[in-house]
Amino acid sequence: MDNTIVTTERKNHSDSIQLAQHAADTLNLQLVMRHHESLEELREKYKATNVLVARQGKYVLVTPEGELFFHPNMSQLRIKNIRMGDEDHMIRAMDLREGMSVLDCTLGFGADSIVASFVTGQGGSVVGLEASPIISFITGEGMKSFLATNYELHSAIKRVRVINADYNLYLKELPDSSVDVVYFDPMFRHPLMDSHNINPLRSVADHRPLEPEAVKEAMRVARCRVVMKENSRSKEFSRLGFSDISGGKHSKVHYGIIHI
Ligand SMILES: C[S@@+](CC[C@H](N)C(=O)[O-])C[C@H]1O[C@@H](n2cnc3c(N)ncnc32)[C@H](O)[C@@H]1O
Repeated sequence: MDNTIVTTERKNHSDSIQLAQHAADTLNLQLVMRHHESLEELREKYKATNVLVARQGKYVLVTPEGELFFHPNMSQLRIKNIRMGDEDHMIRAMDLREGMSVLDCTLGFGADSIVASFVTGQGGSVVGLEASPIISFITGEGMKSFLATNYELHSAIKRVRVINADYNLYLKELPDSSVDVVYFDPMFRHPLMDSHNINPLRSVADHRPLEPEAVKEAMRVARCRVVMKENSRSKEFSRLGFSDISGGKHSKVHYGIIHI
């Protein structure tokens, strides 16, 4: 990880100090007391690229590209649309129903996992893997502490199990046919720069491309489908053997499907 330090909001409340200490211990990062200094001053003093700030019960990673924090905004909107009877392209590509299990290999901020968790419900399961320790921490802690006013969104968030792991290693450990759907949403080879929710993630995310070996492992592990999201014009679909493509005609993203 780039040089990252942990601090609190300016006031150094005891709650914020505890929260900052928890982050420093978990991520093995240096905790720096704030003493009214600006984040810019701290960055300069500690030669840090990013500052993880414990602020009002939440974590915010301040990067040169912007602020990164957990918020289920996109999933909230998608769940609302599903409840109104609209089709969700990811859910259709997964052919996802209540009671099914999903392994989301690329959790990020968890929007896709939360939508999958809403659809699979109490009887289903969603595990989200994230290779970046800091993203995994912010999403995992954010999911734990988030209080949604809407019960269905709240329970969908709480059911997602977050694991800091590299899917290349994790998949190898799983038995054959052990989850219904294995899902990949890697950092796009040709990013859509108007994806404002992904932009702050770029500096700390794992950018390695999905490789055929991981797709092969995913096909061994999945009972029903392996699904990959990519830029609709991406050559990754054909390179990785996703021949069935689904998604809106004018949509900038498509879903490649491998049927098991
Ligand atoms: C485009 S984002 C995923 C966004 C996510 N679908 C959402 O709804 O918020 C891709 C994420 O996958 C993670 N990632 C990339 N390679 C990975 C790997 N080998 N194992 C686990 N996570 C990985 C990146 O760090 C990044 O956070």
